[in-house]
Amino acid sequence: MTANKMWGGRFETGPAAIMREITPSIDFDKRLAGEDLAGSRAHVRMLAQEGIVAKEDASAILKGLDQVEREITDGAFVFKRELEDIHLNIEARLAEIVGPAAGRLHTARSRNDQVVTDFRLWVRGACERADKGLLELSRALLTQAETHVASIMPGYTHMQPAQPVTFGHHLMAYVEMFARDRGRFEDARKRLNESPLGAAALAGTSFPIDRDVTAKTLGFARPMRNSMDAISARDFALEYLAACAIAAVNLSRLAGELVQWSTPAFGFVKLSDAFTTGSSIMPQKRNPDAAELIRGKTGRVLGDFIALATVVKGLVLTYGTDLQEDKERVFDAADTLEISLAAMAAMVADLTADTARMRAAAEPGFPTATDLADWVVRVLKKPFREAHHIAGSIVKRAEEKGVTLDKLPLAEMQAIEPAITDKVLDVLSLEASVHSRMSLGGTAPDRVKEQIHFWKEKLK
Ligand code: ARG
Repeated sequence: MTANKMWGGRFETGPAAIMREITPSIDFDKRLAGEDLAGSRAHVRMLAQEGIVAKEDASAILKGLDQVEREITDGAFVFKRELEDIHLNIEARLAEIVGPAAGRLHTARSRNDQVVTDFRLWVRGACERADKGLLELSRALLTQAETHVASIMPGYTHMQPAQPVTFGHHLMAYVEMFARDRGRFEDARKRLNESPLGAAALAGTSFPIDRDVTAKTLGFARPMRNSMDAISARDFALEYLAACAIAAVNLSRLAGELVQWSTPAFGFVKLSDAFTTGSSIMPQKRNPDAAELIRGKTGRVLGDFIALATVVKGLVLTYGTDLQEDKERVFDAADTLEISLAAMAAMVADLTADTARMRAAAEPGFPTATDLADWVVRVLKKPFREAHHIAGSIVKRAEEKGVTLDKLPLAEMQAIEPAITDKVLDVLSLEASVHSRMSLGGTAPDRVKEQIHFWKEKLK
């Protein structure tokens, strides 16, 4: 084995076989090819502009990079593990195409600033894709919410019937969550969008480079101020992974609800054949696989964050090859989140709500007991604590009689609180309860319509 032709000047022999196994990152970092080409183009143009390399060499290099790009898109490019990573693979091929002038591309640059420039560009794109996926999902939720702005369902706390709500209200809660997720990706994108290029190995370079120019060409807001920070910082990737983790957790809750809502015991929603799978033994089954997988994949995304945070936590400044472990975690989280978002958006668009089942499920459990207590406060002017006690006793009576609150004879209520009149019946139905919750953000259909209107304008 001869020494590595890209960096082996001081080496007499090549690496041990096991080194050739453990070192390469090309199997996964080939995904950075587009970003690497963009970074090289920006760099070599700047080198020519500053007179650091000759114009002819720069244009030969640019032409060569175009050819490399074509070969990669056509699938003709041969990725070599002995060339370790995407950076050396592209540079080596460039040398074959262009000849010795290709060697000038790496002037005033190191793989350390090169890799992190590529990676920042990639994560920037991933933030944009996450945002788009969340937007599509929010739009699907909005459409369903509009249809079901007044469809009554049980609202739960502790998974016990609490107060009736509308399905539209419930779905809009997720629109709020996913809007915050979008905000996290937007913040991450804004903070990461600074250029590390030109930090070179760690200390900067003695060549008169113009970092403002390369930053601008690559769409970065500015060059990073500190070359050592530029090389070693991975908090941008952690921030992206944290945003992915929180979004995955939010998605997992919705996925869990879909699993529950679609089981026959609930029967609140039906997923079409296209979004369910059968069982190899039980002919009747309709399994909500996509929802379960979305819920299950949350674990990987959380793990991706922990894995990279653990890599970075003990690392002295600046670069250590430990950092090569950053990419797979980010790629995995991005792939997982993106497919989960797409599947969830499609499932939400596909589902049919069984409004009769939902309404029927809202009947048991005395969910209008709060409305009864509120009526006693409002009409009989009792303190809420006393009203709560009266309503509780009436619930007990209804439970003994096996009826809902609005079916309990007035005389039964009066036996507990003589001042109660038949006017109380106005507030005890599910519809009356839902329509009465007109406080800001409440479940009254008119209030939910306001939320829908707000987001429809915003998500246009
Ligand atoms: N493959 C490396 C990575 O992914 C690229 C940077 C390597 N730099 C170095 N000095 N070995 O981080």
